[in-house]
Amino acid sequence: METVLEVTDLHKSFNLGKVNQVDVLQGIDLSMKKGDFFALMGPSGSGKSTLLNIVGGLIPQTSGQVKVLGSELSSLSDNMLSELRGKHIGWVFQSFGLIENLTALENVIVPMNLQGIIGEDAERRAGELLERVGLADRVDHYPDDLSGGQQQRVAIARALSNDPELILADEPTGNLDTATGIGIIKLFEELAQEGKTVLMVSHDVKLAHAAHQVFILQRGRLIEEEIVV
Ligand SMILES: Nc1ncnc2c1ncn2[C@@H]1O[C@H](COP(=O)(O)OP(=O)(O)O)[C@@H](O)[C@H]1O
Ligand SMILES: [Mg+2]
Repeated sequence: METVLEVTDLHKSFNLGKVNQVDVLQGIDLSMKKGDFFALMGPSGSGKSTLLNIVGGLIPQTSGQVKVLGSELSSLSDNMLSELRGKHIGWVFQSFGLIENLTALENVIVPMNLQGIIGEDAERRAGELLERVGLADRVDHYPDDLSGGQQQRVAIARALSNDPELILADEPTGNLDTATGIGIIKLFEELAQEGKTVLMVSHDVKLAHAAHQVFILQRGRLIEEEIVV
């Protein structure tokens, strides 16, 4: 199976060389193949978001390697990095991050437009994606008129808009009740079965254990957890 993400001896420090230096990641190794669905847990402030942000090309690592689809991120130019982000990585956040004055359909279309998919093509594809996440009857609704779970489904459809290989989800169920959260996790599970690679941060032990593998980030290190079924 194709390797989508390869993290090797990754280190990340903030305020390097200053009195307030924090060594958040201290040698992380992680490998994900096409179709993998991994969960990342760990105490608040342990560096979960930092790890996702580095993997997603939003912030640079201090040392070590991060390869997404074979490209070492630190070797990419700014343009190549934004192309990788736009075409190959989908993001899902705790706060959904939808644009309030756009409908569900329009929210999904925005990132397509940025990638040059426009007009009826974009509309048709956005409609299909909203149908995929179970919102065929909500395409013209504004975020305010949708429940939290529905808003997160729109956000997932938006994350899928450019058919990314890698989906990064930072506490996607953090603002949802457990039952709604389970629905979102099931959706990630299905997406993984369809060949997406999903790396999800979660606080909820039960939800995290629906993933194929669970990792705990603690004191800068990643520990694989045994999943007891
Ligand atoms: N831009 C930054 N500058 C300095 N410190 C940061 C920055 N971003 C995160 N940190 C620190 O890194 C640590 C990990 O943060 P974060 O990755 O957000 O943790 P988590 O997502 O696990 O709660 C925290 O101590 C946080 O204060
Ligand atoms: Mg975080």
